[in-house]
Amino acid sequence: MSIQDKIDDLRLRRAQARAAGGAERIAKQKEGGRLTARERLELLFDAGTFRELDVFAVHRCRDFGMDEKLIYGDGVITGFGRIRGRLVYAFAQDFTCYGGSLGEVFAEKICKVMDLALKNGAPMVGLNDSGGARIQEGVVALGGYGEIFFRNTVASGVIPQISMILGPCAGGAVYSPAITDFIVMIRRSSYMFITGPEVIETVTGEKVTKNELGGAMSHNTRSGVAHFAAETEEAGLELVKELLAYIPSSNRENPPFVSTDDPADRMDPELMKVVPDDPNKPYDMHAVIGRVVDDGVFLEVHPHFARNILVGFARLGGRSVGIVANQPTHLAGCLDIDASWKGGRFVRFCDAFNIPLVTFVDVPGFLPGIQQEYGGIIRNGAKLLYAFCEATVPKITVITRKAYGGAYDVMCSKHIRADINYAWPSTEIAVMGAQGACNILYRRELKEAADPAARRAELVRQYNERFASPYLAAARGYVDDVIEPQETRPRLIEALEASASKCDARPPRKHGNIPL
Ligand code: HXC
Repeated sequence: MSIQDKIDDLRLRRAQARAAGGAERIAKQKEGGRLTARERLELLFDAGTFRELDVFAVHRCRDFGMDEKLIYGDGVITGFGRIRGRLVYAFAQDFTCYGGSLGEVFAEKICKVMDLALKNGAPMVGLNDSGGARIQEGVVALGGYGEIFFRNTVASGVIPQISMILGPCAGGAVYSPAITDFIVMIRRSSYMFITGPEVIETVTGEKVTKNELGGAMSHNTRSGVAHFAAETEEAGLELVKELLAYIPSSNRENPPFVSTDDPADRMDPELMKVVPDDPNKPYDMHAVIGRVVDDGVFLEVHPHFARNILVGFARLGGRSVGIVANQPTHLAGCLDIDASWKGGRFVRFCDAFNIPLVTFVDVPGFLPGIQQEYGGIIRNGAKLLYAFCEATVPKITVITRKAYGGAYDVMCSKHIRADINYAWPSTEIAVMGAQGACNILYRRELKEAADPAARRAELVRQYNERFASPYLAAARGYVDDVIEPQETRPRLIEALEASASKCDARPPRKHGNIPL
């Protein structure tokens, strides 16, 4: 065979690999607006940069007639390339080959790129579209999943890991995405569950559709499993690129700096009007964030879940920051179980990846309620507290209005080692609100008063005069300065610059024991 014949043979084999599960299965895949694994990778990576590995890998299964069904690549495309110029490793499960099901070789291919990503300090993106464990391979498939779960865990906090769910993701297969940092789902075409509708109906009698049970919006609004819901696969892939732009390639690096024309000293007088005069009136914290960050761009994470807290990425003076903010328009911005978990996980991500934290506080306290107590608000609230205490990245806090009770401490107060704490003049810091405080302090006096309503109003006025301001905290250095709302952006950028060389450490230990 001449070298030309050998090259022709190689090209033929490559063409066979590209044919994947065949024209019929590819056509079926595309019926529901889904892309093929290869198209997804082409959209994800900068043009012409994706380099595939293990193109010629085939499974070793000889049971159930599988020896007759060999497809190059074994149903998963793995490799590396550039996303906006930066090195990223990825795998894309190919539903057209054995339903994207995971067998021994399929898992080995994924493990190989995960190992390379970890060794090279590059993000790992997983595109999931799979019928789960390859039934014909039995325990070997389960072992393959275990190897992936282990690597997801070892890589956690070392390299960013992002999962897209682009079709089915069922059974134990869900646990690989669940360990990764972010999950992006596609409305109407992706779903995740441990047990599907049929099994649930058999076991519990409950009837539910696949989409209600594990569709993108179920996991974005109810379970919190997914962080983003995109309308289309194309939009989801764009979102992954945008997300990566805020994050360093590994915990050994700082996030990319993105220069901006938005002036660092930009004042915004509109911020003076955001907080209403009536302290019980809500306002949208998005308005504050949008007016402060570079070019008004805020990439909100988990926007549909626990909407009483906002988390997401933005830039200040070109530097990536993680923003955590109470949201007064939902549950008055109270912290509850879901908000504490959402905030805690985000804070830990930022801390692991050297992303400074900027916290905007307007919190009336923890949400009261029997369900909250039975549901474990104590251990869940502790997650956010623990995460902020543990974080050693620069931590800057701005109190815009209320900071009451334990929630004052939790929301990145000075006491849990925020670096710079600012307060707007509208700030109220106290153990509790005036009405509640007067009920406790003056119960007897109010009972006996000739005109209880007038006496209560007077006591509330006195309490507010004493506590409804930032100056008691400022007198003790719990807030470093009281600032005008309009100067928030310049003050934050200065504070971040002043904290950029921060070096802080905690005592050596194997790991802490966060109240999970
Ligand atoms: C082997 C599989 C497969 C699997 C699908 N296929 N799932 N092959 N192992 N797990 C194959 C089908 O035989 C078919 O092959 C092709 O993929 C497409 O499947 P269809 O059923 O035709 O597609 P569709 O109608 O779209 O249905 C998709 C599906 C369904 C809902 C995912 O295939 C399904 O229910 N599959 C089984 C899902 C499951 O129970 N998996 C195990 C989960 S538990 P041909 O040759 O006809 O194209 C699990 C444990 C993980 O994964 C444990 C980790 C610790």
